[in-house]
Amino acid sequence: ARLSVREALASLEESRKDIKIQGWVRSVRSQKDVLFLHVNDGSSLESLQIVSEPNLKGSALSFGSSVEVVGTLVKSPHKKQSVELKASDIRVLGACDSYEFPFKLKERHPPDYARQYPHLRCRTNTFSSLLRVRSEATAAIHRFFQSNGYVHIHTPIITSNDCEGAGELFQVEATNWDSAAGDKSGFFDVPAYLTVSGQLHLEVMSGGFTRVFTFGPTFRAENSQSRRHLAEFYMVEAEVSFTESLEDIMQVMEDLFKSTTTALLSRCPEEMDFFNRYVSPGQKDRLEQLLKQRFMIMSYTEAIDVLQNSRDAFRYKPQWGCDLQTEHEKYLVKHCGNIPLFVTNYPYDLKPFYTRDNEDGPQHTVAAVDLLVPGIGELFGGSLREERLDILQSRLDGLGLNETYQWYLEIRKFGSVPHGGFGMGFERYLQCILGIDNIKDVIPFPRFPHSCLL
Ligand code: 4AD
Ligand code: MG
Repeated sequence: ARLSVREALASLEESRKDIKIQGWVRSVRSQKDVLFLHVNDGSSLESLQIVSEPNLKGSALSFGSSVEVVGTLVKSPHKKQSVELKASDIRVLGACDSYEFPFKLKERHPPDYARQYPHLRCRTNTFSSLLRVRSEATAAIHRFFQSNGYVHIHTPIITSNDCEGAGELFQVEATNWDSAAGDKSGFFDVPAYLTVSGQLHLEVMSGGFTRVFTFGPTFRAENSQSRRHLAEFYMVEAEVSFTESLEDIMQVMEDLFKSTTTALLSRCPEEMDFFNRYVSPGQKDRLEQLLKQRFMIMSYTEAIDVLQNSRDAFRYKPQWGCDLQTEHEKYLVKHCGNIPLFVTNYPYDLKPFYTRDNEDGPQHTVAAVDLLVPGIGELFGGSLREERLDILQSRLDGLGLNETYQWYLEIRKFGSVPHGGFGMGFERYLQCILGIDNIKDVIPFPRFPHSCLL
């Protein structure tokens, strides 16, 4: 029977004959009359120990080569592992020149070194652990929404709108579009872009469903090399109809964060321990503490007050009406004892056209909320949406977007409902949970200015 390394390691029977294991050699140790191999296949952090006669093709076996091993799975006499495979046959499927292979046996490679080899870094413990956690987190997020009555919507990747209105768009055009035939209108007749957010399409669906979500790639032509920005990242977005309170939306944000994190702690214990040990010491304790606490809440106006009264020297002076900078966000979270912090009711002029007007004054605000987390700053952005036709219409008029958003206005014209939602940056979530410094190390193939490897 073919077993994965994970299945083999979990095997409790005394001894099992004719077991086949396939994977990559993580270490080779040859003694006079015995050869020890460790084989890993990505199914678990641990590798399976293979014990064999030294004359079993020992020469082609090297760190990094791929192998297929047949043998008997037995209880291991060694303390470090529960079982080992006594090999009767070892077949090298793909040799590997260990001198040229960029990753070395028993060496810890710094993340920026591993990043140079996106085609090979899944062979390292750190990156393969990350990818297993990423996969479990994806499944946990889907489970959270599906089990709470949300319908999953595939929102489009190509769109003709700029949801955030920030002008950070990648334009899409066909390479073979027929310029010889004089068709200058482009493939879609209108300018088309890679989506920056699925929100507007989710809002369409929230006109017929009570709860919807999407979880897909989003794209931003942000000219930033920062440790928390990518040009292509995954966003988890939800939209809830029939809600008139921002607190309802904040509750879903907090529940999503806690439920996903709880799932990771219980489903990826080895990986969480690994990151706790080698990447961010103390991380597991911090997470467990955080799960027990209610997140904090502060209005934007209070936040500006806190910042202005701080003794820290900021690069950007905090001022009512200005966007919170990363340094401000990190300070606020620290100020709140490193507990995630909801900042609510931002200035009207800072948030996109769809955000619901609080109609207050003289400091005019909207019903928007960001969730700030330790070490990262902004993790979620959300808001109540403007569901009142007249108010939305005059805001779009002012922006000269009335024409463009006729369809969006019609959602308000035909059975409008009070609703709200949010988006969570999936890579920032992983950074936050695992304590990983750079966002480029939590996505298989990072895209950022001047870099589109593979
Ligand atoms: O705050 P943002 O721009 O909000 C929206 O796009 C809303 N339309 C979402 C919604 O309400 N449905 O983005 C949401 C989150 C941010 O809080 C951040 O975590 C992440 O997406 N994000 C990025 N992550 C990585 N790289 C970037 N360049 C990011 N820009 C935003
Ligand atoms: Mg935001």
